[in-house]
Amino acid sequence: MSEHWDAIFAQKSNDELSWYQKEPTTSLEILTRWCRPDDAIIDIGAGSVGLAEHLIERRWRDVTLLDISREALDIAAKRLGSNATKVSYEIADIREWSPTRRYRVWHDRAVFHFLISAEEQRDYVLTAARALDLGAVLIVATFSPSGPTHCSGLPIVQHDSASITALFNAEFDLIDSRDEMHTTPFESTQSFTWSVLRRR
Ligand SMILES: C[S@@+](CC[C@H](N)C(=O)[O-])C[C@H]1O[C@@H](n2cnc3c(N)ncnc32)[C@H](O)[C@@H]1O
Repeated sequence: MSEHWDAIFAQKSNDELSWYQKEPTTSLEILTRWCRPDDAIIDIGAGSVGLAEHLIERRWRDVTLLDISREALDIAAKRLGSNATKVSYEIADIREWSPTRRYRVWHDRAVFHFLISAEEQRDYVLTAARALDLGAVLIVATFSPSGPTHCSGLPIVQHDSASITALFNAEFDLIDSRDEMHTTPFESTQSFTWSVLRRR
């Protein structure tokens, strides 16, 4: 699986990736509403142009980027330039990852929906619960029921806030949700659902 993603990041520039956005507007809106820059944050499947540079600009001090692709994190670090050392990096498959510390914020844009089986989804929820302090915030964005069925040649599972609530219910309460129409660099649109949950 890491080979699949490494090949994509090696072959395509950032603005050839369907999920590319100039500004992570919805992420920043949600973080401003529910979190503070002194919260420790982990970005799951951060990719090559994630949140990090915006977080550093806004003086977030404890930022971790996790991705299955070393290539993606290398590009992300290059983009950060002299700020690259202000961020921690974890090359890991979220399906096998064991957290060694705790965070106050979990951010996942367009990764959870790649988990197809009920077992993978349940394990993800347990991993997130283990990685987060009580009261911490989990932000997850997936393709919605009117969004795409595939991304980067892989099938995804569409979710709405009701299905996310049901899947995360054992450990998390839904506190916010919103829909977003993402415009890709190719001027097509993709419907996303954002869910914000609090660790019980
Ligand atoms: C659609 S991209 C989204 C990137 C980023 N979150 C964004 O919004 O710009 C999916 C990302 O998740 C990573 N990824 C896919 N499966 C993963 C897994 N099982 N564990 C960790 N990262 C994964 C990919 O390498 C890629 O960077």
